Amino acid sequence: MLRFQSMVISSCLLLAVTAKRLHAQRLIPQPTQVTTTTGVFKLSGTTAIVGGKSAGEAKYLQEAFNDRTHLKLPIQPAAQNNYIRLSLDEKLDSTLGKEGYLLKVTPAGATITAATNAGVFYGIQSLQQLIGFKDEAFVITGVEIKDKPRFGWRSFMLDEGRHFKGAAAVKKLLDEMAALKMNTFHWHLTDDQGWRIEIKKYPLLTKVGGHRDSTQTGSWNSTTYDGKPHEGFYTQEQVRDIIAYATARHITIIPEIEMPGHSAAAIAAYPWLGTKQTPIRVPGKFGVHYDVYNVADPKVVTFLHDVLDEVMQLFPSKVVHIGGDEVKYDQWKADAGVQAYMKAHQLATPADLQIYFTNSISAYLAGKQRRMMGWNEIMGAKLHEYNDSKDVGTTQLAPGTVVQFWKGELKLINDAVSKGYDVVNSYHAATYLDYNYEQIPLEKAYSFDPIPAGLDAKYHAKILGTGCQMWGEWIPDEVSMEERVYPRIAAYAEDGWTLPANKDFKAFEKALQRFYARWSNKGIVYHR
Ligand code: ACM
Repeated sequence: MLRFQSMVISSCLLLAVTAKRLHAQRLIPQPTQVTTTTGVFKLSGTTAIVGGKSAGEAKYLQEAFNDRTHLKLPIQPAAQNNYIRLSLDEKLDSTLGKEGYLLKVTPAGATITAATNAGVFYGIQSLQQLIGFKDEAFVITGVEIKDKPRFGWRSFMLDEGRHFKGAAAVKKLLDEMAALKMNTFHWHLTDDQGWRIEIKKYPLLTKVGGHRDSTQTGSWNSTTYDGKPHEGFYTQEQVRDIIAYATARHITIIPEIEMPGHSAAAIAAYPWLGTKQTPIRVPGKFGVHYDVYNVADPKVVTFLHDVLDEVMQLFPSKVVHIGGDEVKYDQWKADAGVQAYMKAHQLATPADLQIYFTNSISAYLAGKQRRMMGWNEIMGAKLHEYNDSKDVGTTQLAPGTVVQFWKGELKLINDAVSKGYDVVNSYHAATYLDYNYEQIPLEKAYSFDPIPAGLDAKYHAKILGTGCQMWGEWIPDEVSMEERVYPRIAAYAEDGWTLPANKDFKAFEKALQRFYARWSNKGIVYHR
């Protein structure tokens, strides 16, 4: 009871903040076009949700509204007055696309119209942000909103290889992504320090690879370890449940299975996957210094196909991410079998071998109607001081690959788009959520433009969008994660959705008050 009362009080506080801001109609992400109209729509317990063909969205709205106001609105087939109407109109596709929507609020009610249920869902998110509290009633002032996203790819990445967070944390993130109209959850499920997804054919991946004895603490050069075991993984049943949860929120989950590097946990489970064959332990030290798959061994390639088969059975996403970043080539150089394989296939450098292998995986995925995505190392440029200057690849990466730029210099992006690749821009210096607030202050996060300055306009459409990345090395728990994620996630959401001409940091900061209240209400820790 006490808890319920405090929830009501904090809801009222939230709504008081909301009411004060109401006139500004400033949302996050800011819509394409907002026109204030006359009159006020007064909501009550008898306001009807008219769901039409959007049954799932009607139910979502009912629950979200109940969470927020403690009113349970009835879902009805029709209503003349006092309604929130959800409606589909395929014709809107030509102007607003699959994710755009129209939202009209008059004293009689609110109407959301969109070409698809994704658009309806985003209209609901905007509607929620407009609710105020005035004279003891929930109200929305008259408004017409016409809105669609600038980019179709608006992602948040969670690295669970380094520290496992678990299903409840993931669902909480998905809720906040949905509220911010982000549509892609990039799930980094395997890394040197942990394998986090059940693969039925290879049970040791999680039994051995999902556990480490001790973890480096502090920072990259630290010699201190916590001496505590860390473990965790998702069963396939849990993965299915999380995908369903995301799907209901119009979020696609892109699984990332790292290859050929960042694979020490898998090699700890099955030593024959590496070139050395000798047993290793799942490392607790972070950084790039570990064993890589022996891609010259057909058994290893079969293993990767088997893993991807189970991943594709679980994840309906068209795109599958294979990582491909930060591969150290020393082990390939030292292995006679790998060297013979390179010679037989006329591969001049280990970077060429990586591209050749990556293309074979791409072909495997394409054969199952999937599209491969990888970090920008897969194009073969030398990006790291630990790679030899001769270790660049000139083999052509398979067409159709989506390249995710974390090393985002214009020259690299230009190289990709001029060769026809689609790009997701996750430039590390602007979008890495493990960086602290000195490195990436909120305003810097907010001012990131996924289309880099100087990119020829004829290539702008090749930039699919942007991602922000929550790497987990120094983020052991949910609280440390949330402090880095919030509020910068809201800035990244706006970077992906809002037209540059509609962006305004001061107005965004003010609109954040509503989200601070929302996050406080949900027990989410955020950085001030
Ligand atoms: C990366 O940060 N290694 C993609």
